Amino acid sequence: MAFTPYERPVRAAFVGLGRIFDLNVRAYLDNPDVEVVALVDPSEERRSERGADWPGAATFASAAELAASGLEVDAVEALLPIPLHEEGVIELLGYGWHVNLQKPMCNDLAAAQRMIDAAEANDRLLRVMENYVFYEPLVRLKELVTSGELGEVSGYHMKMVGSGRGGWDVPASSYHWQFQQMTHGRGILVFDDGWHKLATALWLFGPIREVRAWVGGTEVMPGVEIDAPTTIAWEHHNGIRGVWDITLAPDMYLRSDYYTNDERWEVTGRRGYARVNRCTGRGIQQPSLEAYADGEMRSSHALDDDWASSFRDSGRHWLRWLHTGEGPMLWSGEEATNILRFALAAYASSESGGAGVDPAALR
Ligand SMILES: NC(=O)c1ccc[n+]([C@@H]2O[C@H](COP(=O)([O-])OP(=O)(O)OC[C@H]3O[C@@H](n4cnc5c(N)ncnc54)[C@H](O)[C@@H]3O)[C@@H](O)[C@H]2O)c1
Repeated sequence: MAFTPYERPVRAAFVGLGRIFDLNVRAYLDNPDVEVVALVDPSEERRSERGADWPGAATFASAAELAASGLEVDAVEALLPIPLHEEGVIELLGYGWHVNLQKPMCNDLAAAQRMIDAAEANDRLLRVMENYVFYEPLVRLKELVTSGELGEVSGYHMKMVGSGRGGWDVPASSYHWQFQQMTHGRGILVFDDGWHKLATALWLFGPIREVRAWVGGTEVMPGVEIDAPTTIAWEHHNGIRGVWDITLAPDMYLRSDYYTNDERWEVTGRRGYARVNRCTGRGIQQPSLEAYADGEMRSSHALDDDWASSFRDSGRHWLRWLHTGEGPMLWSGEEATNILRFALAAYASSESGGAGVDPAALR
């Protein structure tokens, strides 16, 4: 669509006021690009809790009530449970609002297409928010890769350990829909959190031609299986191979202000390597970015490596773009569908015993 930036602050509504609101809201605080006009959630308790921070915003129990109120809204921050993404986004676009949706976009390609079609039909924008590509150590990792300092890239490695103890409280209601996702074969590590990891591979090295995967499972309580151990390997069109290894450590305590993920990223080049040591949790407490070449290790000690800052910057990027047109905007619904294809290719490969699957060939 031909999009004309607003020449005034964007009028925004939050739809969904749960756990992740705490971080998404950072983009909206003290931001002259936006005016928060409404908060929507069926939970009265959440409306009054969140409403205290936004006294100028009206509160509603549903998006339909907001639409019927006649309040002018330009864009919504959709923080809905994943099973509600498709229906919710189509509804929000239908009211004539641009939508910034949380990841994962949805569970299958048909749903993704319906969401993209709804954006087109209503002449509105659908953005699928990705915060990791705004996390400063990863942004700097990308700069190192493109600067050529590491030499030609030979490979990409990611490691994640889902640990069971530490971090912030997650409401039982969030686990309810996560369990629902798991029963549909869309696990919390590979699909939900995995969205971010797969996104970084596409962002760093471009399109992928083949994915091979071995998705495992560990029962952590009767009837609840977490999707690890899992290993996913792939090859980009440019020949660079990547691998992502997921391990579960249910009894391990990990210090974290947020979720308890121990995450690492490493790019190996022909001349050196660079490594991001942590992100969501405070796993390895060394500088968050280290780069090695020619016998010397360079450590970055003063990066903004608080995971929450990536939400602030991702959200600000969207609001700035709506307000002024400064871009390019990361990621459109179509670009996000490539991340979905990557994940679905991993599932298809695992189901076929690890055969190579071309994400573009999935229907
Ligand atoms: N970017 C990230 O790293 C990250 C991290 C965590 C969660 N998320 C994503 O954020 C989204 C929300 O996750 P969460 O952890 O905040 O979930 P949550 O369960 O804590 O919150 C969801 C909120 O939506 C509300 N809700 C339910 N139905 C609604 C409706 N029809 N209209 C309006 N509100 C409704 C619920 O009452 C609840 O307050 C999910 O898509 C999740 O995958 C992203």
